[in-house]
Amino acid sequence: MRVASGHAEGEAMRIYLGSDHAGFELKEQVRGILEGFGHEVVDVGTSSEDSVDYPDYAETVARAVAAGDAPFGVLICGTGIGMAMAANKVPGIRAVQASDPEMARMGRLHNNANILTLPGRYIDRDRAAEVLSTFLETPFEGGRHQRRVDKIGRIEQSSE
Ligand code: RB5
Repeated sequence: MRVASGHAEGEAMRIYLGSDHAGFELKEQVRGILEGFGHEVVDVGTSSEDSVDYPDYAETVARAVAAGDAPFGVLICGTGIGMAMAANKVPGIRAVQASDPEMARMGRLHNNANILTLPGRYIDRDRAAEVLSTFLETPFEGGRHQRRVDKIGRIEQSSE
């Protein structure tokens, strides 16, 4: 089955991954989790716990996903909130912050989210792995949700 992001269910994908300093430790673990699922990971940094600005990494990952370089991105900061706010400024991006699998599932099913943001300071490795696998394996439901997602796109266009 092909899902809304254009990849086949269960297929290995390229995934862009980025974090700030507060998400660095979890990002290192997430890279291993995603590679363990068989995906190709493009890690755009950061590369240490030295203080950096999360919008820089959000923009890099969001622009790559919006350009079609990968179907999905994962961004991690302290809360996941700043990463979601910044990524959602890039047209075509629907970033969802999720720290439990159900929110990740709904973000895919109803909102066709293409970026997952994680709260590095508030989630452990095992929970992050559950959230990631749920996000990546859940297809977009389409139907009435497509109409609503299209309306998000129209808000973007009318704001340019
Ligand atoms: C950094 O201290 C923190 O503000 C950042 O990681 C993030 O949580 C912002 O939303």
